[in-house]
Amino acid sequence: MNKLWGGRFTKRPEQWIDEFGASIAFDQQLAQEDIEGSLAHVKMLAKCGILQREEAEAIQNGLLSLLEQAKKNELPFSAQYEDIHLNIEKHLIDKIGPVGGKLHTGRSRNDQVATDMHLYLKKHVQTIVSLIGNLQKVLVEKAEQHVETLVPGYTHLQRAQPVSFAHHLLAYFWMLQRDVERFKESLKRIDMSPLGSGALAGTTFPIDREYSANLLGFSSIYENSMDAVSDRDFIIEFLSNSSMLMMHLSRFCEELILWSSQEFQFIEMDDVYATGSSIMPQKKNPDMAELIRGKTGRVYGNLLSLLTVMKGLPLAYNKDLQEDKEGMFDTVTTVEGCLTIFAGMIETMTVNEEKMEQTTKQDFSNATELADYLAAKGMPFREAHEVVGKLVLTCIQKGVYLMDLSVEDYQEASDLFEPDIYEVLDPRTAVNRRNSYGGTGFTQVKLAIQKAKEIITEHVVN
Ligand code: ARG
Repeated sequence: MNKLWGGRFTKRPEQWIDEFGASIAFDQQLAQEDIEGSLAHVKMLAKCGILQREEAEAIQNGLLSLLEQAKKNELPFSAQYEDIHLNIEKHLIDKIGPVGGKLHTGRSRNDQVATDMHLYLKKHVQTIVSLIGNLQKVLVEKAEQHVETLVPGYTHLQRAQPVSFAHHLLAYFWMLQRDVERFKESLKRIDMSPLGSGALAGTTFPIDREYSANLLGFSSIYENSMDAVSDRDFIIEFLSNSSMLMMHLSRFCEELILWSSQEFQFIEMDDVYATGSSIMPQKKNPDMAELIRGKTGRVYGNLLSLLTVMKGLPLAYNKDLQEDKEGMFDTVTTVEGCLTIFAGMIETMTVNEEKMEQTTKQDFSNATELADYLAAKGMPFREAHEVVGKLVLTCIQKGVYLMDLSVEDYQEASDLFEPDIYEVLDPRTAVNRRNSYGGTGFTQVKLAIQKAKEIITEHVVN
């Protein structure tokens, strides 16, 4: 069978060479975008008088029926026709006859594929933004239930100061909010039409690029035809934003995994998000969290891979650019899947409040309170730090906690100490007194929850 570009060739490649060069195995995911792009193009050709009305109508009808078939996954594809563009064109010609061959007037696969990718990514970035929104919503709901649940806060993975569990959860809310902003900002550069740039230099036909861009719902068009067909910045940006998002999810997973361990016992994953062991009957592994942490690797890999593909490419289109697709599709599937699983995991996990609170009482994370107490009574903080450090050492030597020392012990260390010291040492007091803006005090956390709720109304679809 002849290639759609076969005119200048005398030999046909063997099948395996065809298959090596073909992208249909993966770019068939773009079937709908490809047909939508063609519909806009043909309408534009008719409007500009480049095609006769009847010709354009025949092509449109043919494309519409192909679109129906594509939606039902009923279109067969073949590596012989290389990619989605030529497969669709072949189907069109088979369906409506030689007039189908007029569709490709004034355009090239180079602006066509770029258009498809812009359409595809625009749709999926919007989906991803609302999936992040859904996860944020679940986080806020969990946070609301745990404003007054105390948990140790860590630095260096050493207990530092107790915090509200809601405060800890909300830290991730704000990371995710930056991800939402990054994805939304990137839409400006995704929502652009390269259509009508031709192979690289534009076209001799009197086309109207604004018109086809409008039909496709694009907000703007590329200024330079050579840039338009060879730009993949918008995909790299997507992969980079996805990498950052996955890094956030992965950090969170790491904590969920730690908290699920026998050593912490802070949370328990719902059975649905955990698995057992084939040999050890007692095991309940937080598999989904581990898998999301693991999948972060492939998303980073996809970013590095496309950056590397692009780094030596001369203008304009080069076949190397076909390598932009699999990493993008894989990232979309991975990110959408991880976000959906994550929301379910958080929503259904059991929080062991007692264990968390009990832990905050069995450490020295209230030592800062003592130092602040002395400092508030006029002792320079540096000296207060020293006095409390010595008290901690005494406790360690005696095998007790700061709560267990007597008033006499305290007054021996400094005569500024009074019996109200025990109230100050209570982790609940410690948390609640941290009412500086953005701190973990209960009033601050409640304010943060209010703010978070207002913010997500913009991108959460109910
Ligand atoms: N399958 C190709 C790709 O994904 C479409 C563009 C082909 N253009 C060309 N001049 N060979 O990049």
